[in-house]
Amino acid sequence: MGRELIVFDSIDSTNTYGKNNADHLMDGTIILSEEQLAGRGRRGKDWSSPKGTGIWMSMVLKPDIPPTEGVKTTQIAAAAVCKAIRDLTGLDALIKWPNDIVVNGRKVCGILTEMAGQLNKIDYIVVGIGINVNNTEFPEGISAVATSLQIEYGKKIDRKELIVRIIKNFEALYHSYIENLNLTEVVAIVRDYSAVIGKEIKVIHGTSERIVTVHDIDEEGFLIVESGDGKREVIFSGEVSIRGK
Ligand code: BTN
Repeated sequence: MGRELIVFDSIDSTNTYGKNNADHLMDGTIILSEEQLAGRGRRGKDWSSPKGTGIWMSMVLKPDIPPTEGVKTTQIAAAAVCKAIRDLTGLDALIKWPNDIVVNGRKVCGILTEMAGQLNKIDYIVVGIGINVNNTEFPEGISAVATSLQIEYGKKIDRKELIVRIIKNFEALYHSYIENLNLTEVVAIVRDYSAVIGKEIKVIHGTSERIVTVHDIDEEGFLIVESGDGKREVIFSGEVSIRGK
């Protein structure tokens, strides 16, 4: 990981750069930018990425695994980031399945995973990680739901130190996963630091929404939920919001 490191002062989006250049970028390339002019979030949303405040980074991966497995890189990244934040700051960072890290109920990190390939072969995966590190203010629309590590920790955080820890964590978890497609280590972290287990959540799938209670996260990293009639089911993907937040 990171043997090829590309650092921009300014770019539209590190994920877009990774996707547009995936053909000639090495597996494990890391792209960082001090600011993004058109940072992208999930579901077509913008991702505010002001200069010198946060970590705006993408990793280009080219694993020889089926696309159904590739989606799990999101959870690997979430586990790597959550552990790095906890170890560096002591903050009680939690993973809001599947892609967000929250501190005190507010979002500090989002992950946007984009994949291309055929039915049984991945061409590339771009895992984009956005972390509000030393931001002190947020655009109007998100100020109620977003926070930064500096705001929560009370002091500026060394972004380089956090990046190094994230890459080290990701590398270790990713390689042990790729070798035997066993997600046990990742799931242990995702479970220990889950913001959703035991909670009532709203699951959003396209235009449909429903309320369920999270029972657990299974060995594959999927959510096991219970609906009102006590029936259990597994949720593979989607957007969740924790009720009461
Ligand atoms: C989300 O929570 O909606 C996902 C946000 C992902 C933001 C990161 S910042 C680095 C990378 N480049 C982008 O344009 N987006 C991701």
